[in-house]
Amino acid sequence: MTRSCLAIILAAGESTRMKSSMSKVLHPVAGRPMIAHVVSSLADAGISSVALVVGRDAEKVAEAAGGSAEISTFVQTERLGTGHAVLAAREAIAGGYDDILVVFGDTPLITAAPLLAARQALAEGQDVVVIGFQTPEPTGYGRLIVENGELLAIREEKDATPEERRITYCNGGLMAINGARALEFLGHIGNANAKGEYYLTDIVEVVRAKGGKAVAVEAPAAELMGCNNRAELALIEAEWQKRRRHELMVSGVSMIAPETVFLAFDTQIAQDVTIEPNVVFGPGVSIESGAVIHAFSHIEGARIATDATVGPFARLRPGANLGEGSKVGNFCEVKKAEIGAGAKVNHLTYIGDAFVGENTNIGAGTITCNYDGVNKHVTHIGANAFIGSNSSLVAPVSIGDGALVASGSVITEEVPADAVAFGRARQDVKPGRAKLLRERYQAEKAARKTDR
Ligand code: UD1
Ligand code: CA
Repeated sequence: MTRSCLAIILAAGESTRMKSSMSKVLHPVAGRPMIAHVVSSLADAGISSVALVVGRDAEKVAEAAGGSAEISTFVQTERLGTGHAVLAAREAIAGGYDDILVVFGDTPLITAAPLLAARQALAEGQDVVVIGFQTPEPTGYGRLIVENGELLAIREEKDATPEERRITYCNGGLMAINGARALEFLGHIGNANAKGEYYLTDIVEVVRAKGGKAVAVEAPAAELMGCNNRAELALIEAEWQKRRRHELMVSGVSMIAPETVFLAFDTQIAQDVTIEPNVVFGPGVSIESGAVIHAFSHIEGARIATDATVGPFARLRPGANLGEGSKVGNFCEVKKAEIGAGAKVNHLTYIGDAFVGENTNIGAGTITCNYDGVNKHVTHIGANAFIGSNSSLVAPVSIGDGALVASGSVITEEVPADAVAFGRARQDVKPGRAKLLRERYQAEKAARKTDR
């Protein structure tokens, strides 16, 4: 689109209904603040000039929005309504744009398509274009009053007549305004309504009174879900998850029970990966083709290479880097560690701050003791090594290629390549001793009974 555009994100509300010490736009959806989702949809729509209107938590909100040089921040000092909030960005609006797009920080599921459709309608001569949606449960939303394809007014719930309340076509809150006349229109919004606020929605009647044209464009209701309280936050999260799972499945990812898989905003999963039920992803995960994530695994900040398998019941923490065909099995935790191609860490193990070479086998119950209470230390294990079960590797320590650590060892010193290390007491066997002890204990017990 050749027309210039300024997007104004309203994020200065009190968030009263969230009952939170933090602005609602900072609450996360898929692991990142709601406001960041809005900014990224604007970017998808090719809009790079952004004015952010903030109130409480101003600095944090600006930071969460991206802190990019292209985003200018305006503070709305008093909370006098959405119409008043837009005018906090008066200076930016005066910059002279063809289109002014107003979006809300609390409507994070919006995608580029409705924003582009609204701008298209401006390009075709409308003065204000409201993004609307149909819902069987319109309670709480402003109603769109449409006649012969023209938008006559938006009526807020509190000001609507019983008849108007039955309208199911609602205001999504987002709108595009003719940039050349935006300040003129906005300046005429008053506050004579039930809440005594300057309603942005009144712009429709202002535009029409000034001979301008107003229209609504319909978008899917799911994209316009607004977040006013925590119950709505959970609904938005669920909708986001549903959408992203679907995208991944149609791009070639298998999910056996998709409704039990929780993704983060940046989870990258390649084709032919299988995700079993009840898997949770935190931020920063990428999974390459052919990998299998078994049930009940929790994964964040990890890279999982081709054909690797994880879980069931595995935990991968930030910096876990699993090589091709490697295995991290049940009740294992891996943090800031590289697991070489074909290496196996199959049972009840903690590998942290470590390097495990190719095809090395880490026995059940092995622990890298990486923390001395003050500092973290590194464990280095070479390729083709074998660590016997229940070993403690006290870092900093290194174990060479092809080395073998006897099970139950506490390893505190370097094990050279191809060496065997025993780090445990030698076994001592006393033939017949168990029988003797048993007979003695039984005799003592019998003597105590006859004493009584
Ligand atoms: C608003 C619309 C309603 C629409 C609904 C869609 C108005 C008057 N009403 O109602 O028609 O159906 O959204 O979700 O516009 N904000 C400020 N400063 C303020 C007040 C609000 O920045 O003084 C911001 C909020 O942070 C929020 C957005 O504007 O991001 C919307 O405000 P909110 O109070 O949530 O409006 P709704 O009651 O949901
Ligand atoms: Ca809202």
